[in-house]
Amino acid sequence: MNNKTNNIHPIFDRLLQREDREKRLGQKSKVLWLTGLSGSGKSTIAQALERKLYNEGFFAQVLDGDNIRAGINNNLGFSLEDRNENIRRISEIAKLYLNSGVITINSFVSPTIEIRNYAKQIVGASDFIEVFINTPLHICEQRDVKGLYKKARAGEIKNFTGIDSPYEAPTKPDLEVLTENQTVQESVQVIYDYLINIIKI
Ligand code: ADX
Repeated sequence: MNNKTNNIHPIFDRLLQREDREKRLGQKSKVLWLTGLSGSGKSTIAQALERKLYNEGFFAQVLDGDNIRAGINNNLGFSLEDRNENIRRISEIAKLYLNSGVITINSFVSPTIEIRNYAKQIVGASDFIEVFINTPLHICEQRDVKGLYKKARAGEIKNFTGIDSPYEAPTKPDLEVLTENQTVQESVQVIYDYLINIIKI
């Protein structure tokens, strides 16, 4: 790795500890990592889960392609190299939130096993919860909420995940959500029920 930070003195010892912040917020912080195809419902579920957690007294923040790629990652495209960098930066951001006691709900295609392992490594395995939002490609394509599948099929967008760029489904996710015959609220409930025992103090 290209490490240019050898001359930077770490200050973390002097900072308030994560446990102090968690105590203040009344929760244990975790990084929830939602992976799945474009149009699988990740961000919709993430936002509804964020709202539910808020209503139940928790403090969570959604990070997704829309808010991250519009800002800090607006110089990145969809080559494998750029996707790696996208995920590297977002993982580092999620880690900062983690250490400040906040639960993050990360909603990124993160298409390969390698890319997700990279995220897990940066965040730390014990704080990383991989959730596979499993919606079959034909359903995502049928919904085509953003009209991107149509463009990808027409060759107007290159390297589109699931069309001409691979999506490797997780082999052992911590949680799998089969959205096809579920409402958004049902999917959210599945994740919430899993999460609650992990985040409550
Ligand atoms: S990732 O692969 O780097 O994790 P990310 O989740 O940030 O992707 O962004 C995916 C979103 O960007 C999709 O939901 C879609 O709206 C849009 N997008 C634009 N071009 C592509 C592409 N070539 N492949 C996948 N998604 C794309």
